[in-house]
Amino acid sequence: MKQTYHAQRRQAFLEQLDGQTAIIAAAPAVTMHRDVEWPYRQHSDFQYLTGLSEPDAIAIFAPWHEHPYTLFLREKDLLAEIWEGERVGVHGAEKSYGADKAYPISELPQRLHEYLGSSQALYYHLGMDAELDRLVLSERQKGMQLGQRSGDSTQSLHEPASILHEMRLHKDAAEIRRMRKAAKISVKAHKAVLKTLEPGMYEYQIQALLEQQFLTAGGCYAYPSIVASGTNACILHYTENRRKMRDGDLLLIDAAAMYDYYNADITRTLPVNGRFSARQAAIYQIVLDAQEAAIAKVKPKLPYSEIHATAVQVICQGLSDLKLLKGDLDGLIEQGAYRPFFMHGTGHWLGMDVHDVGDYQQQGQSRLLQAGHVFTVEPGIYIHPRAQAIKGQPSIGKKWRGIGVRIEDNIVVTTKGHENLTAGAPKQLRDIQT
Ligand code: GLY
Ligand code: MN
Ligand code: MN
Repeated sequence: MKQTYHAQRRQAFLEQLDGQTAIIAAAPAVTMHRDVEWPYRQHSDFQYLTGLSEPDAIAIFAPWHEHPYTLFLREKDLLAEIWEGERVGVHGAEKSYGADKAYPISELPQRLHEYLGSSQALYYHLGMDAELDRLVLSERQKGMQLGQRSGDSTQSLHEPASILHEMRLHKDAAEIRRMRKAAKISVKAHKAVLKTLEPGMYEYQIQALLEQQFLTAGGCYAYPSIVASGTNACILHYTENRRKMRDGDLLLIDAAAMYDYYNADITRTLPVNGRFSARQAAIYQIVLDAQEAAIAKVKPKLPYSEIHATAVQVICQGLSDLKLLKGDLDGLIEQGAYRPFFMHGTGHWLGMDVHDVGDYQQQGQSRLLQAGHVFTVEPGIYIHPRAQAIKGQPSIGKKWRGIGVRIEDNIVVTTKGHENLTAGAPKQLRDIQT
């Protein structure tokens, strides 16, 4: 097992801890039903630092301790390993995973205090595991009571995110390689759909085609695939994927692969019969123009909020040209008149989590983009067939209702500007119509 990247990250994390202690927990296994579990997916923070894909593990980082990096994890157990698969074990954690010291997870309660004693601050995220929260808080309390006698009694509690998520936001070359691979697999899957799609197919058949591509390439789906035809395209988180597609429908596909813990996140909207109607094409073109205008701006030092502002501007102009919004452009933007049609942000950070970690603001201002930031650009217009019933919704002619379009790509900021990792998935009208 190659541990170079994880070792470098641990080193950087230990340095930034500045003499304090951090406890980072593995994700718990999750029950699917009765005694069957969902496929295990490690917590991204834990994976990022340890490279260990097992539940029931705790990593402790204590730069001041004789063992700055300690892993508590499951012991080797042949009988359990015959049923569930191999475990790294205590020896393996030291030999192959870079731990300065490893102990069985069962020894955490009696050993935790050693790691809390000499630290004025503790970095620990509450709320993931109630039992661990109780143990950590009670050991911290005991430590503070002991400290009271020696006059050194408070230990402040901090979110590890303040260090770790800032690190994760900036992707290094190895991470971008994985993201490029996840993007490549996903692009190939979207291209396969374009060749296969026709009226009469079921949404789940397209889902199967996409996910077959992800699995064949050694990945899996990054998030439940959204295959939303007809008016389902107006449901942002539609994942039922049961409908039979008809001639004249649009199909919104928001689906992509995860590869070696890194995600892509692509949306394409296609005409099921290979031809957009005039109205579908008009809406599609606005979304595409908005997306392209927003992407074109991406370069270092651009305030992140400019991307959404650009997409909003183009969408408002487009909807107003079609007379779906009425009024002067600045007023429409200021009042948020586009929100009934475009009710989400234009994107999010992308990485080990699909909606990846990292602050969007710094000192109350939008963050300035830097090389190594990766995010999605995904404007949309959704004219939900029943949105008329919502108070304050502008009145929309019947013929427009039920159209939903989103287009989403994955953009990495480079020193010179940007690279679109998912540009290979066709989106121009001439490329997606027959
Ligand atoms: N697929 C989730 C999103 O686009 O944010
Ligand atoms: Mn997205
Ligand atoms: Mn998406």
